[in-house]
Amino acid sequence: MKIVAIVGSNRKNSFNMKLAQYMQRTYEGKLDIEILPITDLPFYNQEIELMPSETVQKFIGKVAQADAVLWVTPEYNYSIPGILKNAIDWLSRVDKVMVGKPSFIMGASMGALGTVRAQEHLRGILFSPGISSPLLPRNEVYIGAVHEKFDDAGQLVHEPTVAFLNIIVTNFISWYDQHTGAFVAKS
Ligand SMILES: Cc1cc2nc3c(=O)[nH]c(=O)nc-3n(C[C@H](O)[C@H](O)[C@H](O)COP(=O)(O)O)c2cc1C
Repeated sequence: MKIVAIVGSNRKNSFNMKLAQYMQRTYEGKLDIEILPITDLPFYNQEIELMPSETVQKFIGKVAQADAVLWVTPEYNYSIPGILKNAIDWLSRVDKVMVGKPSFIMGASMGALGTVRAQEHLRGILFSPGISSPLLPRNEVYIGAVHEKFDDAGQLVHEPTVAFLNIIVTNFISWYDQHTGAFVAKS
């Protein structure tokens, strides 16, 4: 299954990027995960949406070709970071490539709540008409105290989280397989 991961942090040492990279390496045999850069996307502007830059076209094209999207988000001020919202705004227009495309969400923060509030906003956004992405139900991944769970080499060293992510991936694949053909592609 071809997955694109969209990470809402532009920080060099981002924990959420480490999480996405961990997912990419660890589940290589099960999920073909490509992490898409979003930091160089220009601000969405309705006036240029029909003639977007090559960077935007490439980004939207990669998402269009993927079977599913993994969103990995930090929490900024109780919501998702602006760069992630900007990327979603691009995806929500013109060809609306997210409509009917399945998603699952993860997030990591240094605080205790592990991006609960950001993910609540993200779910709402993903249900908007221009995105309409079927979301893996019942499997919510909130990784709190993330700075204690990754080592300096970017390895996830917290065994309960390692085990939990195994369950999430199994559940995602099973949910995806059960619904193959049922996800409603955009008209
Ligand atoms: C502008 C800003 C706002 C933040 N707001 C929150 C917040 O609302 N809730 C929270 O748990 N952490 C918040 N944090 C802390 C982030 O969770 C922490 O910086 C995290 O490491 C960011 O993710 P990253 O490592 O992937 O860049 C905020 C950080 C920044 C820079």
